[in-house]
Amino acid sequence: MKFVAFSGSLRTKSLNTAVVRTAAELCLPPVSMTVYEGLGDLPFFNQDVESECPPPGVLAFRALLESADAVLISSPEYAHGTSGVLKNALEWVVGGGELVGKPVAVVTASPSMTGGDRAQAWVKETLEVMGANVLPESLPIPLASAKVADGRVTDEDTRDALKEVLAAMARAAKEQGAED
Ligand SMILES: Cc1cc2nc3c(=O)[nH]c(=O)nc-3n(C[C@H](O)[C@H](O)[C@H](O)COP(=O)(O)O)c2cc1C
Repeated sequence: MKFVAFSGSLRTKSLNTAVVRTAAELCLPPVSMTVYEGLGDLPFFNQDVESECPPPGVLAFRALLESADAVLISSPEYAHGTSGVLKNALEWVVGGGELVGKPVAVVTASPSMTGGDRAQAWVKETLEVMGANVLPESLPIPLASAKVADGRVTDEDTRDALKEVLAAMARAAKEQGAED
């Protein structure tokens, strides 16, 4: 079973990138998770470019999502919304439909008490309008600075919660016909 994950933050010491890297390490066979780290290399979405000749990086991103049985997105919260780079990446996928019907879990990690819940609502709404199967097991991580060290989630409760999210992704993928 193949999962794909990506973080909506380009920051070197990103809490959200730590989330997806930790999630990948928590996946046990037969599940494997590919962490896509090319969000910052995607050009700004332009509908003319999309209809004429989408760039190779965009096609590779779409193909990776297409090949996934389930997707995990971890988003920062900026000014009560998601990041521009994450929204931009999702815009490149609207037309291709690679996320239609796909199980997608959304995590938001924030140093604040709210855990990025407003960004989470924002990302979920975008994914729902794109036709993704947005999982209810999505997870806000409040006070995340204290739960991450050296680029990984170290807080045991949060690691357990991430395992629950991964289990929900596997259940949803299986329901949609993915094989172990
Ligand atoms: C421009 C900007 C706006 C922010 N707005 C919010 C916000 O609305 N809510 C929030 O919880 N954190 C906000 N933050 C703090 C981010 O949640 C924090 O920087 C977080 O670590 C970013 O995610 P990352 O660690 O994955 O890069 C903001 C940070 C920046 C730089």
